[in-house]
Amino acid sequence: MVSVSLEDLKAKIHQLEQQLQEDQVLDPQKLQTQYLGKRGLFNTLSKAIKHVSPQDKRVAGQLLNAFKTSLQTRLQQLSDQHQSTPWVDLTAPGIQPPAGHLHPISQAIEEISRIFAKIGFTRVRYPEVDWDYYAFESLNMPPNHPARDEWETFFVEGPVNKQYGKIVLTPHTSNGQVREMERLKGKPPIRMINIARCYRRQQDVTHTQMFHQFEGLVVDKGINIQHLKGTLDYFAQEFYGPGTKSRIRPFHFQFTEPSFEVDFSCHICHGTGQIGQRRCAFCKSGWHEVGGAGMVHPNVLKAGGIDSNQYTGFAFGWGVERTYTLREGLNIDDIRLLYSGDVRFLEQF
Ligand code: DAH
Repeated sequence: MVSVSLEDLKAKIHQLEQQLQEDQVLDPQKLQTQYLGKRGLFNTLSKAIKHVSPQDKRVAGQLLNAFKTSLQTRLQQLSDQHQSTPWVDLTAPGIQPPAGHLHPISQAIEEISRIFAKIGFTRVRYPEVDWDYYAFESLNMPPNHPARDEWETFFVEGPVNKQYGKIVLTPHTSNGQVREMERLKGKPPIRMINIARCYRRQQDVTHTQMFHQFEGLVVDKGINIQHLKGTLDYFAQEFYGPGTKSRIRPFHFQFTEPSFEVDFSCHICHGTGQIGQRRCAFCKSGWHEVGGAGMVHPNVLKAGGIDSNQYTGFAFGWGVERTYTLREGLNIDDIRLLYSGDVRFLEQF
C-alpha cells in the first residue's frame, strides 16, 4: 500500500490551488462541479487520507478541511464576479443609434415637389437674394408702385444696379417667374414649381421673418382658369386628402389678371363651417385661405420675352408653413416653433 505523507498532501493541495488560479471562468457552475462535485477533484483528493499514517491523520483532516473552505470561498467569489461582469453576446444585433429625420418643413417641401412632379411640373430654385427687378419690377410693379408696400421687404445695402435696381431678400417666390421664362428663352411650354426661402419684416404666431413659399407657373397655348382650378383641386386632394375642395375668390395682384385668393375646405367641418350647432373653431367659415393665384399678366409675359398674343398662363404662390400647418392632426398654433430648434418639438414629426 502506498502511503501518503503530509508533504505529499500539501503539494497536491498546492497544485490544485494553482490549477484553479489558471482555470478560465467561463461557466462558474461547471467549475463548482469540477472541484467540489461528488466526483470532483476535492473528493478524489480527500480519498488519499486513507493512506495517511495514523499519527498524521488529524493534521491531514485539518489541511483538507481548510482547503475545502478556501475552495468554497474562492468558487463563490468567482461566481459573484462572473455575474457582475456584463455578458456580451457578440452575435446579437447592435444597438441602433438614434436616427434623426428631415425637418417637418423639408418633409413638406419634398411632398409638395412630388405632388407637382406627378403632373409634369419641374422643380426649380431661384435666388433668395435677388434684384428688385425680378422681385417687383418685372412683375408689373414699377419703382414706387404702392402695391410693393404689401411685401414688407428687407433691402440689402449695396450699389444699385442701373438695370436691375436694388438687392432684396426675396419677399416671395414670384421672382422665379420671369427668371424661368428667361431660362427657357421665352419659349413655352413652362411648368415650373419654385420652392424657396422668403423674407419679410414681420414676426408673430402666424409669421416668421424667414419662411418658404412654393410658386407654380404654367405657360402654354390655350391655358385658362379651368387649368388653374383643376390644378388647385388636384393639389388639395393630394396634400390634404380625398374630399378636400378648393375655392377661388376675386382679389388683386399686379402680376396676374384676373387675380384670386385660394381657399381649401376645412378638414374638421368639411367646408360647412359648423360642427353640430356650433361654429367650427378651427376655420370659423368652412375654408382656410392659403395664398394667391391668377392668370399671368401680359406685362409679365412680355418681361419674360413671351408673346402674350400667342400664349397665356396661370400662376400661384403660397406659404409652405401655412399650407403644412393646416394639415389634419397638426394643430401647431405658433408657427415660430418650427424654427425654434427645439428637438422635443421637432421629434414629434
Ligand atoms: N407672390 C404673392 C404673395 O407672396 C402670391 C401670389 C399671388 C403668387 C398670385 C402668384 C400669384 O404666383 O399668381 O403674396
